[in-house]
Amino acid sequence: MIVAPSLLSCNFANMAEEVIRIERAGADLVHLDVMDGHFVPNITIGPGIIKSLRPITRLPFDVHLMIEHPLKYVDDFADAGADIITFHVEAASDIDKTIDKIVSRGVVPGLVIKPKTPASAVFSYLDRVGMVLVMTVEPGFGGQSFMADMMPKLVELRAECARRGLDVLLEVDGGISEKTVFAAAEAGADICVSGTGIFKAKDASQAITILRNSDNKDHSLFDRIIRK
Ligand code: DX5
Ligand code: ZN
Repeated sequence: MIVAPSLLSCNFANMAEEVIRIERAGADLVHLDVMDGHFVPNITIGPGIIKSLRPITRLPFDVHLMIEHPLKYVDDFADAGADIITFHVEAASDIDKTIDKIVSRGVVPGLVIKPKTPASAVFSYLDRVGMVLVMTVEPGFGGQSFMADMMPKLVELRAECARRGLDVLLEVDGGISEKTVFAAAEAGADICVSGTGIFKAKDASQAITILRNSDNKDHSLFDRIIRK
């Protein structure tokens, strides 16, 4: 399992040290949650902070946009150093145009679905994205409970990608911990995001190791899609 700590649960007064801490603890990606107080009822970080963090680490930046108009901001997040930009199918921007824009900037595009959105909402875009993120909580806040009933969506997405011979990474986000990760691993997730489960753990390195060992998949798909 590829492990993406979410900075949403870090100490915001020491973000640079927190990034270094999780890199040393064995993180594969840095997950950055961008919220606009409109698409979700919370406000977090923007491109300025992401740009300042970019020189701190060599880990890829997985930027999760929970904003109403992702298309308007693709350039800003690409300039800030995003390696992956995921945006919600429920947002207002045209999905094809947003994917085109992300690809034109040399960034890997991904689509995100909220708990009430079916997996089929992304089927017609699967040949154009590198990742699908299945939310396992309502987006907006860290520390919520994992929704196990989202697992059939991963199975459905995996089957659809296999049927069409598509290589797409499946990511889960929300309530992932040492206890809940196994359900996601079994359902076919490649990448798990974890905020509270890593940053509030007594030992981040131990927490990451447990998440990583929740399956025994190799990282070849990730290497092909993300570390081009
Ligand atoms: C929620 C965010 C998540 C959040 C996960 O809207 O997308 O990335 O940080 O936090 P935990 O792991 O605490 O549920
Ligand atoms: Zn997220």
